[in-house]
Amino acid sequence: MKRDILSMTDLHDLPEVLARATALKEGQSSGRELGGKSLAMIFEKSSTRTRVSFEVAMTQLGGHAIFLSPNDTQLGRGETIADTARVLGRFVNAIMYRAFSHVNMAELARCSRVPVINALDDLEHPCQITADLLTIQEHKGRLDGLKLAYVGDGNNVCNSLLLGTAMTGMNMAVACPQEHRPDEEIAAKAAEIASKAGVISEIITDPIEAVKDADVVYTDTWVSMGQEDEVALREKIFLPYQVNAELMSHARKDAIFMHCLPAHRGMEVTDEVMDGKQSVVFDQAENRLHAQKAILLSVITG
Ligand code: CP
Ligand code: NVA
Repeated sequence: MKRDILSMTDLHDLPEVLARATALKEGQSSGRELGGKSLAMIFEKSSTRTRVSFEVAMTQLGGHAIFLSPNDTQLGRGETIADTARVLGRFVNAIMYRAFSHVNMAELARCSRVPVINALDDLEHPCQITADLLTIQEHKGRLDGLKLAYVGDGNNVCNSLLLGTAMTGMNMAVACPQEHRPDEEIAAKAAEIASKAGVISEIITDPIEAVKDADVVYTDTWVSMGQEDEVALREKIFLPYQVNAELMSHARKDAIFMHCLPAHRGMEVTDEVMDGKQSVVFDQAENRLHAQKAILLSVITG
């Protein structure tokens, strides 16, 4: 049976995926396992990291990646997601999809006979969070028992982080405005997984309380792709949630700062924190490559 990665919870073998990513990063694998294989990459939204890391991952694994934007394909002229999935499955070995809607993501997966990888939609960003967990493990030597504080918008990245931390035995506190909480169903699922693992998954409004005792402080943009009309309103609502040196001083002294990027300097994070000693944001970006190689191998070759 094909294996889709639409949600963080589809990575039920997360420890193995992380171990494989580490081995690939350390060069312990021959690395040409995807010779002759092709990946279709559909991007409905902009991307720097995701596009380049998936394309380079396929090249380094001996395969090939094809960039498809709706504007240049028949998707932009009304061919359905379902028919597109049926056609692509006749040519390629897997499809990577960056979508506006999780409903379309699920539809593509339903109609595709090859695996579909979610490269960000309105609900989740599992590839990012796999790379993030790899980064935390590298910097802290472990995941279980650590505390991650996410400060800002309860968006796709926050949703996948809630699941990813709970699945790896990490505590997580989200600090966000009441009207910008993470997805309710995902938060409930994460709380259930966390409770079974004996850790805490909580959503509060106070950023200082959230970062208290945190080993990791994480933030993301206040204005996700597609929300550009709300810039002025969002910048006002989220101002108390800026990650700056003052907020970082309430976390553990050895806390690391993380951001999936792209960052909006002076908004969700100050230059001082982004460029400071605690920041690991570019390690995170690099780890997209290694984490996605592990995901590609797992869905294409098993
Ligand atoms: N973090 C991330 O997914 O970046 P891109 O939008 O540049 O792909
Ligand atoms: N939350 C952001 C993440 C970008 C990588 C967005 O969806 O635009």
